[in-house]
Amino acid sequence: MRILAIESSCDETAAAVVEDGRKVLSNIISSQIDIHKLYGGVVPEIASRKHIEKVTQVVDEALQEAGMGLPDVDAVAVTYGPGLVGALLVGVSAAKALAFAAKKPLIGVHHIEGHISANYLTAPDLEPPFLCLVVSGGHTNLVIVRDYGDYEVLGKTRDDAAGEAFDKVARAIGLGYPGGPKIQKISELGNPDAIAFPRAKIDDNPFDFSFSGVKSAVLNYLNSCEMKGETVVPADVAASFQAAVVDVLVSHTIEGAKQLGFTKLALAGGVASNAVLRAEMKKACERRGYTLYYPDPILCTDNAAMIGAAAYYDYRNGLLSDWSLNAVPNLKLGER
Ligand code: KG4
Ligand code: ZN
Repeated sequence: MRILAIESSCDETAAAVVEDGRKVLSNIISSQIDIHKLYGGVVPEIASRKHIEKVTQVVDEALQEAGMGLPDVDAVAVTYGPGLVGALLVGVSAAKALAFAAKKPLIGVHHIEGHISANYLTAPDLEPPFLCLVVSGGHTNLVIVRDYGDYEVLGKTRDDAAGEAFDKVARAIGLGYPGGPKIQKISELGNPDAIAFPRAKIDDNPFDFSFSGVKSAVLNYLNSCEMKGETVVPADVAASFQAAVVDVLVSHTIEGAKQLGFTKLALAGGVASNAVLRAEMKKACERRGYTLYYPDPILCTDNAAMIGAAAYYDYRNGLLSDWSLNAVPNLKLGER
């Protein structure tokens, strides 16, 4: 079964063709980063306008690269939430128009379900159940994947998402947007033990996360250095911040696996492309004999192939959408 998928929830306009939920036939991503970085973050109105300009182009390219026309696909899938409402609406409208014109089934997909399903594209042998840490610019969730389309959120962030914290800290040390890859790069030159930034623990749910404390600690550190006339070493600040975030992400995930008896773990979302997170999680898993999965970096950040993978399993579960499908900016995981 070949699914044409569209993703436009934030600042990437993307289209892909995926076969049987596992094989990427094409994966086209048009990034708006160069525009948004002028403003230090995503400007929703600009994002919507750029999606309108690009959506038809990425769909055409995805079909062309897959060597097929619209009549050859078996269904059209699209992210309908969560995300920026105007941005989502562009993808949803395009997918509805294409599916209606070609008389194909329409499948509305949850963006986080897409991120989790990116693992199926990189690891053909991966089957649920497993425990998945979803870390992106908008979300930080520790998710029990019981079966295809069957999720339970074990822990989530109480404030900032992990990627959001990376972006805010990067801005504070003058690295620009998006912060994650820039913090990772500069950290290679820094000492992760230079500054002891806090690792937050939440008393009433050991699997929940909080990143606003570590972000504020970085800002306070920068302010106090400035007041005392002390030199700031940006690479040390970045490396110490990254170490604190990775530490919490790894310890919560391993604790979750231990308590619930999972031996299969996965990473997903933009922050899952972070090399230190991958390396530390791998070490922790190897120590305990757990198997760790993570998607190729290009499938970690927003893309449409992951939406095509999730859509295949939604289709198999009979979860089709009708023409009333709408953008749902605050869509919860497991909700339809
Ligand atoms: O999944 P994604 O593309 O979009 C959302 O659904 O939010 O994630 C984007 C986030 C951004 O915050 C970006 O800074 C972060 O992922 N990110 C990284 C890395 N690459 C992207 N964070 C840490 N290290 C990276 N290498
Ligand atoms: Zn995303």
